[in-house]
Amino acid sequence: MVEHQDGTRAAYDGIVELYASMFAGRLETQPFSRNMIGTFAELVRGTGNRRAADVGCGPGHLTAMLRDLGLDAFGLDLSPAMVDHARRAHPALRFDEARMEALPVGDGALGGVLAHYSMIHTPPGELPALLAEQARVLAPGGLLLVSFFATDGPEPVRFDHKVAPAYSWPADRFAALLAGAGFATFARLFHDPASERGFLDAHLLARLR
Ligand SMILES: C[S@@+](CC[C@H](N)C(=O)[O-])C[C@H]1O[C@@H](n2cnc3c(N)ncnc32)[C@H](O)[C@@H]1O
Repeated sequence: MVEHQDGTRAAYDGIVELYASMFAGRLETQPFSRNMIGTFAELVRGTGNRRAADVGCGPGHLTAMLRDLGLDAFGLDLSPAMVDHARRAHPALRFDEARMEALPVGDGALGGVLAHYSMIHTPPGELPALLAEQARVLAPGGLLLVSFFATDGPEPVRFDHKVAPAYSWPADRFAALLAGAGFATFARLFHDPASERGFLDAHLLARLR
């Protein structure tokens, strides 16, 4: 594991209960994100392969949402404390400790991968390999939904996220990296959450070619 992942893991380990209390119910008030995830789930169901990973699942609430949307979903996270919380909160679901960079999943096994704000801490230079790993575990035609902080500028920008250093991305640059990993991005949603963060919420929906 590289050093920044150690830092990210320790940071999330330390704020599990706070994070869960702030975010586990958040999508109830976020119709755009919620519906994008609903669209993702519908398209995954349409592939005929309902097996889906929620990578960087945190407290597991989105894994549960995917299950409620008819997917055979499981959650993976770097942080053992998050995995612990997710297991307790959703005992019927499977959660495992794993890095997105090395998923414990066979080649072409999945119909969908959800990465909801879990790639935000990955340094830009490591993102191509990270996306290639998501492509490895998806079947051809499988879906990837990636959500992140979007910025207008030409380059990704490092910023002091409250938990661990993070990066905001120009959506076109992110889509270009997805293309490099074999994905075609066919839907984009930008949403201003009206917070003080100064970023847009971005959701890119891509299909493995
Ligand atoms: C901002 S939280 C998002 C959690 C959840 N997806 C959500 O939307 O509420 C980021 C999560 O990604 C996990 N994470 C960060 N880097 C990771 C990596 N390289 N592999 C696996 N999980 C990672 C963190 O431990 C944390 O739980």
